[in-house]
Amino acid sequence: MSIIEQLQRIENEARNKVSSAKSVEELEKLRVAYLGKKGELTTILRGLKSLSPEEKKEIGGKANKFKSEIDSQIKDKKEQLADNVSTDPSFDYTLPGRPRRQGHRHLITITMDEVTDIFQRMGFEIAAGPEIESDYYNFEALNFPPDHPARDEQDTFYTEGGMVLRTHTSGIQIREFEKRKPPVKIIAPGRVYRNEAVDAGHFCVFHQVEGFYADSDVTFGDLKGVLEAFCYELFEEGVKLKFRPSFFPFTEPSAEVDVQCVLCGGKGCSLCKYEGWLEILGCGMIDPEVFKAVGYDPEKTTGYAFGMGIERLALLKYRVNDIRLLYENDTRFIKQFR
Ligand code: DAH
Repeated sequence: MSIIEQLQRIENEARNKVSSAKSVEELEKLRVAYLGKKGELTTILRGLKSLSPEEKKEIGGKANKFKSEIDSQIKDKKEQLADNVSTDPSFDYTLPGRPRRQGHRHLITITMDEVTDIFQRMGFEIAAGPEIESDYYNFEALNFPPDHPARDEQDTFYTEGGMVLRTHTSGIQIREFEKRKPPVKIIAPGRVYRNEAVDAGHFCVFHQVEGFYADSDVTFGDLKGVLEAFCYELFEEGVKLKFRPSFFPFTEPSAEVDVQCVLCGGKGCSLCKYEGWLEILGCGMIDPEVFKAVGYDPEKTTGYAFGMGIERLALLKYRVNDIRLLYENDTRFIKQFR
């Protein structure tokens, strides 16, 4: 076989093998086999030495052309293979893809964000406090004397070191008042803990948003106005509120606020237990004892405070009938609220 014929044969063979190659590794092997230092083409070119100048020229030209052609054919094929996900014949390209599930905020976070957002638009700043709190900030500075029965109502978890898991966000009032001078207008969201029996309406961990405003002449009317504006935003414009007298050690006077049932509009249904009203928060005018504890002059400073449970608002607004659903993290439930 002449050198020309040999070249022709190698060329045909190489083209076929490259075009049917199924992987990048296979192509690399072919490149080495034909173009590498010990490859077939290289071997032929070495044999050129013994030929006449005319033959050298002819064959050398053909060989170089072949070399660059095969080289670029291999490169193209490599790119083509890299573009495909797989060349495995058992891979079915017509199958629909598996969609990735996208994460989203939890209903509690959504509600918390809605609530803080509404108050931020009314000029409240945001603050936070520690979840493991001292008795002083959780109780004493809030005017809960040591043996006050209101302490028992809070079902407190204690740590071994005598700290408490905060039972409410009200202690943040004390921490912020200590740091600032009036006017102070703050909203403080956070997680709280109570050692309570778990049922459809109670869980040992839940979230509250505390609001407080201290300034020179704050009135109960201001408090009513802010809470009404808040409920109009969160529930619906014009929803009716009822301020019921109540008691908290850190406010005087104190009230609990009921909103007209969001489900039946006050006619009576199973959500409002046929009362037409739903309790949503506690509030009042900040007790002078609290101002004394933080070094404010109660003769000069007045203020209001309020605290609400986020889970309760979420259950009402999104018509969920069991608080435990918020903590079981069953995605079939959670993904309904994005
Ligand atoms: N801290 C109270 C609770 O957890 C809620 C509360 C009531 C907060 C009245 C307040 C308030 O700021 O003024 O039950």
